This record gives sequence, structure tokens and C-alpha cells, in this order.
Amino acid sequence: MSNTLLNLLADGKLHSGEALAERLGISRTAVWKQVGRALESGYPIETVRGKGYRLKGGLDLLSETRIRDALPTGLERRMQLLVLDETDSTNAEVSRSVHRWSADRIPVCVADMQKAGRGRRGRRWHSPRGENLYLSLGLSFEGGFAILDGLSLVFGVAVADALKELGVQNVGLKWPNDIFIDDAKLGGILIELRGELEEGSVQVIAGIGMNVHMTEAEDVDQRWTSLARLGGCWERNLLVAAILRRVLASVEKFQAVGFSVFRAAWQERDIFSGRPLLANHGEVHGIGRGIDASGHYLLERPDGTLYPVRAGEVSLRVAE
Ligand code: BTN
Repeated sequence: MSNTLLNLLADGKLHSGEALAERLGISRTAVWKQVGRALESGYPIETVRGKGYRLKGGLDLLSETRIRDALPTGLERRMQLLVLDETDSTNAEVSRSVHRWSADRIPVCVADMQKAGRGRRGRRWHSPRGENLYLSLGLSFEGGFAILDGLSLVFGVAVADALKELGVQNVGLKWPNDIFIDDAKLGGILIELRGELEEGSVQVIAGIGMNVHMTEAEDVDQRWTSLARLGGCWERNLLVAAILRRVLASVEKFQAVGFSVFRAAWQERDIFSGRPLLANHGEVHGIGRGIDASGHYLLERPDGTLYPVRAGEVSLRVAE
């Protein structure tokens, strides 16, 4: 797949085969072949007879240069940034690179599409080409697995803050790791552990998926939304940079002082607060009362006691 052809067509305007051939330094037949391959990969390129080619709706392409330019220099140098056209899963990509992780450079992978995007609980994560944000980071933490309880909540707060900075109001968080707007899912966070506890350090792959340009999706089985549905014009490179800035600052703080300083910020966005909830497959019910200092979700039982729910053990849902 030639990114160069896509770069030229990304503006959504009509380009003649001749002009494309000249810009790419190839023959018109070679342009035609590249267009064929791009169509096979799912890019909606229209052939206008006798006039040329047009990429319907244009394309918000990922660009390593654009992402780096939008990051503060210090931060940009602290990352090992990999920008891919496609991959199975950005989490898997970061996990495979584990032997190359270094203490002073955080591995970060972002891709234009995922062939096997993964969600929580073994679900598939819908990852169409060019439409949404698929971003993963590799992080090392000192201490036991328990410190990770709060990590996906820290990511949620950081992503919500990044969105707020970009003008998106009303971002809600659904425990433990969903990003919501108006009762519809905008994105999710997947924290995966890599390997065993070695010399007291845990390796974690944290993936963020966010719906950006998507306006249609047949096979998503829950209520969803996207930034495009909220309106406005979005560039994924700038979103990636804003999220990385916030996430890396929050991770640093989490590593230094732990979860409890994020508790209030998380609770402000809690979409379960005050709602009747069910946990443990409906066995436990109560009213949502936010999280404790470790990030466990608290249900107020009918007898007034608080029941802490731990991420990974159960899923919480609103009682109908
Ligand atoms: C969820 O189920 O809500 C979590 C979804 C996480 C999806 C992201 S997309 C980037 C990263 N790579 C993956 O395969 N999954 C995560």
C-alpha cells in the first residue's frame, strides 16, 4: 500500500491519473494498479471517467511528523513512536516489541487500522481504516499487580482531560474503563499485563480506542458515539498528541504518588453515581457511590453498607 498515493488523494479532490503519475514518478498504469490495491484495502476511491481519481470524503491520515510536531520536544524525545498503516492490534504490536523496550523511551504505537483489534473480556474492537484512533503504550511499574487496579481509571481521567482541552464537554467515565458521552460509548481502554513479575517490576500494555470519524458501524453491539457525531472537524494526529501529553503526565504522577490523587477527578465524571446498579451477574445490587482510594467501585447496599467491586472480577451494569 502506497501512502504516497493516499497522501495525494487525502484532500478528497479530483486528481488526474497523469498528475498523480507525475507526482509519484511512475506510469499511469502503475497509478491505476495502486488505486486498485487501495480499493482492495478499503479506501473508497472513485474513478471519474476521463478525469481521474477522487478519495470520497478525503482522508485524515496519520502522520508521524504531524504527531511529533504537536508534542512538546521533551516528551517527543522520550517516546519510541511507531506509526503504522495497519496492524493486527496496536496492543499486540507493543507487546511484541517488549525486548526492545528501554528505560528512557516509552514505546508508543498508533495505527490507521487494526485487523484484530481487541476489547475487554475477549471482545473484538471495531477498527475500520482511517476512521478512529487506535493507540497503545508500553509501561513498566515498580511494585505488585495490585497497583494496577487504578491504572485504567488514571487513563480514563487523562483521556477525558485531553478531550476537554480540545473542547469536548460532558465526557463521562463508566467504571472501570469506558469513555462515555451522553450515555453512549465513545472509547475504551484495555490494560494488558506482559510477562511475570520480574525483580518487582510489572510490564503493562495500555491501549486506547476512540471513535473519531465513524458515523456508521453495523457490527457494534452497544450504544456508541463518535467525535464526528458530536460535530466539528477532527484530526487524529492532534488527538493522538493531546492524549499522549495528558496520559504521560498522569502516568508519571501515578508512578510517583499512586492512585488516590486521581480519585476526585474520576468521581466528577462517574456516570454510575447515584444510579441503581447490579454487580456479580445480578447477585449484588446497590446504588453507585463512586470509587474508594484503590479504584474499586462502591455500591451502597440496602442495609447502608458499602460493597467494593474490583475491576476484572465483575462487570457493573445499570439495573433496569
Ligand atoms: C474496551 O473493550 O472498551 C477496550 C477497547 C480498547 C481498544 C484499543 S484500540 C488500541 C488498542 N489495541 C487493541 O487491540 N485494543 C486497544
